[in-house]
Amino acid sequence: MVVKNVCCIGAGYVGGPTCSVIAWKCPDIKVHVVDKSEMRIKQWNSDKLPIYEPGLDDVVKECRGKNLFFSCDIEKGIKEADLIFISVNTPTKTFGIGKGRAADLKFVEACARKIAEVAEGHKIVVEKSTVPVRAAESISHILSANTRPDVSFQVLSNPEFLAEGTAVTNLLYPDRVLIGGEESAGGDEAVAELMWIYTHWVPKEKIVTTSTWSSELSKLASNAFLAQRVSSINAISAVCEATGADVSQVAAAVGLDSRIGPNFLQASVGFGGSCFQKDLLNLVYIAECLNLPEVAMYWQQVTDMNEYQRTRFAKRIVECLFNTVTDKTLAVFGFAFKKNTGDTRESPAIYVCSHLLEEGARLNIYDPKVEPKQIEHDLTSSSVTDDPERVQTLFSTYSDPYEAAKDAHAIVVLTDWDEFKNFDYKKMLDSMKRPAFIFDGRKMLDHSALIKLGFHTETVGKRFARNALLRASGEHFPAFSWTP
Ligand code: UDX
Ligand code: ADP
Repeated sequence: MVVKNVCCIGAGYVGGPTCSVIAWKCPDIKVHVVDKSEMRIKQWNSDKLPIYEPGLDDVVKECRGKNLFFSCDIEKGIKEADLIFISVNTPTKTFGIGKGRAADLKFVEACARKIAEVAEGHKIVVEKSTVPVRAAESISHILSANTRPDVSFQVLSNPEFLAEGTAVTNLLYPDRVLIGGEESAGGDEAVAELMWIYTHWVPKEKIVTTSTWSSELSKLASNAFLAQRVSSINAISAVCEATGADVSQVAAAVGLDSRIGPNFLQASVGFGGSCFQKDLLNLVYIAECLNLPEVAMYWQQVTDMNEYQRTRFAKRIVECLFNTVTDKTLAVFGFAFKKNTGDTRESPAIYVCSHLLEEGARLNIYDPKVEPKQIEHDLTSSSVTDDPERVQTLFSTYSDPYEAAKDAHAIVVLTDWDEFKNFDYKKMLDSMKRPAFIFDGRKMLDHSALIKLGFHTETVGKRFARNALLRASGEHFPAFSWTP
């Protein structure tokens, strides 16, 4: 069999970019991306794609209508395909057994049942969504228990390692492509078919094959290791704030050790995104189920540290603003979980803003890509507030950062958008209440320039001596005490 037709179920952050790049790099393959959401499909077929991802518009424009198609016709997609990617969402369960930790596999299961119902002939089913270990086995069970004699399946695991904001580059130049398959002749054949697709643009030595379970666990472990690095440097940032060390200097020194390396050591207000938290909790849940409580506790601490970092930052804002933010106006710059994406899933901004709203602050929120409706949804959702009506009256969204900063007591930077570095902070300061504060949760602005301008400046993992001098001399504002 040579794969001629690929179907991808789920046109989200993973399925959309991945299959667009496959279509671009494999003109000999027809790629059909299907989704149950008519709205999503309509957007994929329009000039404004449903997700913002640098470089993606050009790829989609190049292939759409030629060998890349987006539709809601899931059955047709499945029937025509030789190989089917399952790229649906696997959120953390919000109810029942494993609530708050286990991944909810209802969407994956629905796909498996749909495939079993309509498929004809032989199909390779590839699990792309992040799933708990042994999910491929469950998919196989559902498929084999529901199929007719003339239909057969091979299930593979091919986890996606793309990061949002750099998805197209990550897909074009992956560190590795991981394919897990059943250890049998049929499994090897299916692995070879999927490998053939990737060899259109990925060097063979970068394609790694493993057992299905190793592949599934590698995805969880990779995200857990990355999240652990962020929590480790954030833990050190708390020590820096308490001692006078600078976390950037510590990170640079630590990262020079070639065994450690420099990446993912940027202290921040905490990690967000759809994967880190979900995968960590999933790993914790699996460890608990396997009766490995020490392993579960170890990984749980990585997410606990993340929560501590977010809360610590919010508390520091309140404490610096003379222990109250009630009725004070704070301009919030950035709501996405990181730069170059409009995605807000698990964004630290949601938690920091909720904490400030809880304290009665008024928030003027500016983000270059996040839709106001999304911000409203995130801040009024039942998982973050008991009183959505009150919260609704306390925040506004802005499309102009200068308007957002007008008459504000403080600016709070929560996402690392590059454009924030180039704002005219003098102009902002002139329109703000005094003393004017700036809280840089991403450690990305020119702090000495801000202090020179007259901002009281606070950031993660560092305390400023000049701020302290100002404090002592009472030059700009009354002294206050801040206990870390
Ligand atoms: C992550 C993994 O990187 C990717 O391989 C996987 O497929 C999906 O999950 P993503 O969530 O898109 O990707 O973004 P990532 O760049 O990993 O950042 C995650 C969070 O950590 C962001 O909130 C980011 O701001 C934060 N972060 C990252 C830091 O706070 N400090 C760092 O040094 C790096
Ligand atoms: P991810 O970040 O994992 O890609 P998203 O939420 O961005 O997650 O995308 C998942 C997509 O899968 C959504 O567009 C959703 O509508 C789609 N989806 C979920 N279940 C099904 C299903 N059973 N059939 C078709 N599409 C589905």
